[in-house]
Amino acid sequence: MDIEKLLGQMTVEEKLCQMTQLNLRAAVYREDTKTWDYSAVNMTEAQYAAIGSGLSYDPNYPLREALSVHLAADRNGIPLIVMLDIVHGYKTAFPIPLAIGATFDTALTEKCFQFTAKEATQDGAMVTFSPMVDLVRDARWGRVMETTSEDPFVNGEFGKAMIRGYHAGGLACCVKHYAAYGAAEGGRDYNTVDMSEYTLREYYLRAYQECLKEAPEMIMTSFNSLNGVPATANRHLMLDILRGEWQFDGVVITDYNAVWEMINHGYKEDTREAGKAALNATVDMEMATTSFFKHGEDLVKSGEVDEKLLDNSVRRILKLKDKLGLFENPYYKLAKMRAQVTDEGRELSRKLAEESFVLLKNDGVLPLEKGEKIAWIGPLADTKEIVGNWCGFCDRDATVTVKSGVENLLGRSVAYVRGCGWGWNDKNESGIAEAVELAKEADKIVLCVGEHQSESGECRSKADIRIPNMQRKLIKAIRACGKPVVGVVFAGRPLALKNELELFDGLLYVWQPGTEGGNAIANVLYGEVCPSGKLPMSFPRSVGQCPIYYNHYATGRPQPVDAGFFSGTTGYQDERNAPLFPFGFGLSYTRFEISEPILSATELREDERLTVQVTVKNVGDTDGAEVVQLYLRDDFSELVRPVKMLKGFQRVFLKSGEEREITFTLDKETLSYYGENGALTVEKGAFTVYVGQDSKNVKEGKFRLI
Ligand code: NOJ
Repeated sequence: MDIEKLLGQMTVEEKLCQMTQLNLRAAVYREDTKTWDYSAVNMTEAQYAAIGSGLSYDPNYPLREALSVHLAADRNGIPLIVMLDIVHGYKTAFPIPLAIGATFDTALTEKCFQFTAKEATQDGAMVTFSPMVDLVRDARWGRVMETTSEDPFVNGEFGKAMIRGYHAGGLACCVKHYAAYGAAEGGRDYNTVDMSEYTLREYYLRAYQECLKEAPEMIMTSFNSLNGVPATANRHLMLDILRGEWQFDGVVITDYNAVWEMINHGYKEDTREAGKAALNATVDMEMATTSFFKHGEDLVKSGEVDEKLLDNSVRRILKLKDKLGLFENPYYKLAKMRAQVTDEGRELSRKLAEESFVLLKNDGVLPLEKGEKIAWIGPLADTKEIVGNWCGFCDRDATVTVKSGVENLLGRSVAYVRGCGWGWNDKNESGIAEAVELAKEADKIVLCVGEHQSESGECRSKADIRIPNMQRKLIKAIRACGKPVVGVVFAGRPLALKNELELFDGLLYVWQPGTEGGNAIANVLYGEVCPSGKLPMSFPRSVGQCPIYYNHYATGRPQPVDAGFFSGTTGYQDERNAPLFPFGFGLSYTRFEISEPILSATELREDERLTVQVTVKNVGDTDGAEVVQLYLRDDFSELVRPVKMLKGFQRVFLKSGEEREITFTLDKETLSYYGENGALTVEKGAFTVYVGQDSKNVKEGKFRLI
């Protein structure tokens, strides 16, 4: 397609149409009259039909008709581009992204996302609003389920794997939410973000930047203001960093309604001024609102916005449409047959789920034995509502509950009682007695408790992140039966489990596990699969510790390691500093030993690489996988540095008795940081390398950069 020629023939209004994305459900297709009802959108039929992009159609939406109507209405023959939120699977739901982070398996993740891309494009999707790589440290934030970690390195590695997968499956993608959306104050969604440039670059920007290495087509701005300026019009984020330093020349889209929200921010007085600010920050596409469309022409005429900016934006949008081949085939990969859950998808989803479960405690109660008499109890033991939020298009009926997963494995029916409801405000205790009766009859009890899938996600922040009250009562009542109790805890976030931990003899954290959840849980509980997930976030003991994260800056008065409250050091009188479970933690049915790290040098020059070698051995009698983690500390610097930073991880599967040598490589990029003035610097001096099974349980080595 000759994009310059096309651009040359477009009017300003047509350009602004290209720069507008509306919700496709806003105009309703009427089956009776076979026409579109535009009354809900404040535009003429012709204007609406000519917009450049649509989002959020549902599976019953007549997409093929919509694409034809738009094409016919566009004088220049520019096809519509449609985008969807496909976050952790399309028809087949994969575990939520936070669970995916716990797998530390980027290769399998890539495969799964490729599969998702195939399913989604079959139903017409062209772009997905994913990956979300916002760094999150506060489990109160509802959208913590959408990220993969509190760690910038993990977020970057998974972001890239997801993009590679999408691309291999033919789906374009949009990295979000630029920038620092995950640092919302108090963990309240959409809240203010205010931080130093040092912290922004050290932690928050890294994953977005890393993702650019895989050439995502788009970036989405975030809802929050950052240091006083809404991200959607933030010239520092957009012009200095994204378009400047990082040279991103793809399409930048706003988040839903974010332009208009600048009025609520008290940043701009009306939609004209808000639109102007976003346009002048080089935003290319406005999602869900029409300030560009309504005021763009006037802003160009008055000279407040240079038409060249519009040209640049439209050029980027047309290039994207051309890249996807939409000018030749405006329906993209939309097939006659709708995507359906298949065996291939189920297998991938089950495998990813199995790898994501984190064994937090095991006093010899797991794995279960097939002959044992187990009481299956809890509000999440026999529900399909465990796939996780942000899975709007998945086939919910296809979800396997825990009860049916166990029955599939054992080939017989099992005893189950719900016990109570899942909600944090559930008041009905009437089912607990029946659960206790069942528990008394059993050898062991498996309690499926925690958060329902609707309790995390967008606008689902919480001030109390414990297991909901009625479920805690249920747990206590069951514990009192004196039988061994295994907890299977579902959640879209790290929960504060301090008080419940002692009530369980075994605890498996299963997040929101997706379509194959029940089968995967059964396999891990019965030892068909050895648990191998590791925590991608630190788990707080109590909510008052939030935000809690392993890679914090060093302080002048640190606590003696794990000593609890110690006067004169940083800490709480009534709580420890340490998390309940540290970042990277996860038990197994087998045991691994990792040797002392061997460093290739004790002195290193800037242009040299350091290799760090360890041997990992499976010394237990079960085959299983271990995630070997490498951390670094820059011991003394011009700016105070984090006490530990993850710089590498490798997931290795080892048969019982098997061992393997593993090598990590550190180079200038790994050793550098954004110092004063935001410039990348490497400082000479001492560094410590740690290798281990989690962020606490490590062995160390030292070297100097000379
Ligand atoms: C708002 C959310 O913040 C964003 O993640 C999503 O992609 C858009 N809505 C579109 O649905």
